[in-house]
This record gives sequence, C-alpha cells and structure tokens, in this order.
Amino acid sequence: MHTLAVNVDHIATVRQARQISEPDPVTAAALAELAGCHAIIVHLREDRRHIQDRDVEVLRKTLKTRLNLEMAATAEMIDIACRIRPDMACLVPEKREELTTEGGLDVAGQSAHIFRSVQALQAAGIMVSLFIDAAEDQITAAHASGAECIEIHTGHYADAVRQSDQDREFDKIAEGIEHARAVGLRVNVGHGLNYHNTQRLVPIAAIEEFSIGHSIIARAVLVGMERAVREMLDIIRG
Ligand code: PXP
Repeated sequence: MHTLAVNVDHIATVRQARQISEPDPVTAAALAELAGCHAIIVHLREDRRHIQDRDVEVLRKTLKTRLNLEMAATAEMIDIACRIRPDMACLVPEKREELTTEGGLDVAGQSAHIFRSVQALQAAGIMVSLFIDAAEDQITAAHASGAECIEIHTGHYADAVRQSDQDREFDKIAEGIEHARAVGLRVNVGHGLNYHNTQRLVPIAAIEEFSIGHSIIARAVLVGMERAVREMLDIIRG
C-alpha cells in the first residue's frame, strides 16, 4: 500500500506573508496526521521564506508520524539535520530565485559532495533520500552515494499540457522506478502532484510514498472557506 507524506510549507508561506504566528504549520501537520497521513514534510530553505527553524524543532517534538526534512546539501543544513534528527532527510537542489524546487538534484555531477553529505546524515541515524529526475545516470549515482531512497521528481509529468508529453514523462518515471527498484532503492515520488495527475501513478506498486504539498494546501483553503466565513458571521451576529 502506498503512503502519503504531506508537505505543509505553504501554511508557513501564508503565515510569513504577515510575519505573525498563524496559520501555524505545526497545527496543520497535527490535523493532517489526524486525517491519516503517514508523514509530514517541510523544506527548510536557506532564505527561510516559509518554514522557520522553530517549526522544524517543534514538529520534531510533536509529530506522531514521521518527519521528512527537505534540505539543500549545505554544511548549515546538515548541521541542523544532525541536531534535530528528522526520520528522513531529502536532499534537493535549491536556488534563491526559484518559486519552488525546479528539478532533480544533479547527483551524477557532484557525486563526491553528495556521498559525503549522505554519510554525515546517516552517521546521525537519519535515512537519506535524494530528489532526482527519472534518468538512469542519476539513479545509478544515487545508488552509488549510499542513499537508501530516492524521490523521483514528477514535476515535468505534472506540468505536461499535451497528452503525448504527459505519456512520455509518465514512461520515464515508470522506467526510472523499475531501474531504481532493480538496484534496491526505495522509491517515493513528488512534485506537482494533484487530485488528477496522481491517479495515473497509483497502479505503480513499487512507489512507496507520495509527497504532496501545494495541491492539498490549495484544496484545504477552498474546502475550509465556507466554514471559516460562517464562524466569523456567528461572531459578528453575536
Ligand atoms: N518533493 C519535493 C522534493 C519538493 O521539493 C516538493 C516541493 O517542496 C514536493 C515534493 C511537493 O511538491 P508540491 O508542493 O508541488 O506538491
């Protein structure tokens, strides 16, 4: 059975827009757990644009499920991860100017650096996942790095507009998963997955976990709107 890891970064995006204390991603994480999710993901970015250090610390203490920390393979982030000890660290590429993670980590192009990062995290007892494109050279390099797990970047599949493009990206993902499983890697998938495009991936039994953020938070805002307005009306009407 597949599991679901919920990324609550965008609850923090809304909070940071006002630089106040709500909405709190820790509360959102607790509600996601009550709904039955299997893990919570947060991306502590170098620029701290959404998730803050405090969030990761409080989540580590309060989560009943697993904490997956997405992070760049930098000395600062590795120190933080080794101190906080999430259940999993997912190494991702990070650029200040990007709106969100734009593509997979180039493991093949920086294998010595990734190898050292994986070793440091594993020495602190943290399982390591590498967020990569479904390309054979990246999967081979991920395996060689000693990481236990990969997360296949589904962004190109999710962004495809034409059916033929989506089919091509789907085939790449399916082949990548097969290759990764053949070398013994655990496989998660994520990025851009929503209530429509996730359905096509569900029959792929080798996928362990779906990592989903934006579409769940976007839907939560809309399905919660009526209730939020009614509650304020009740107050105003005394
Ligand atoms: N997986 C990784 C590695 C990511 O960087 C992100 C975005 O933070 C996600 C999954 C979730 O993507 P989305 O918010 O598009 O569902």
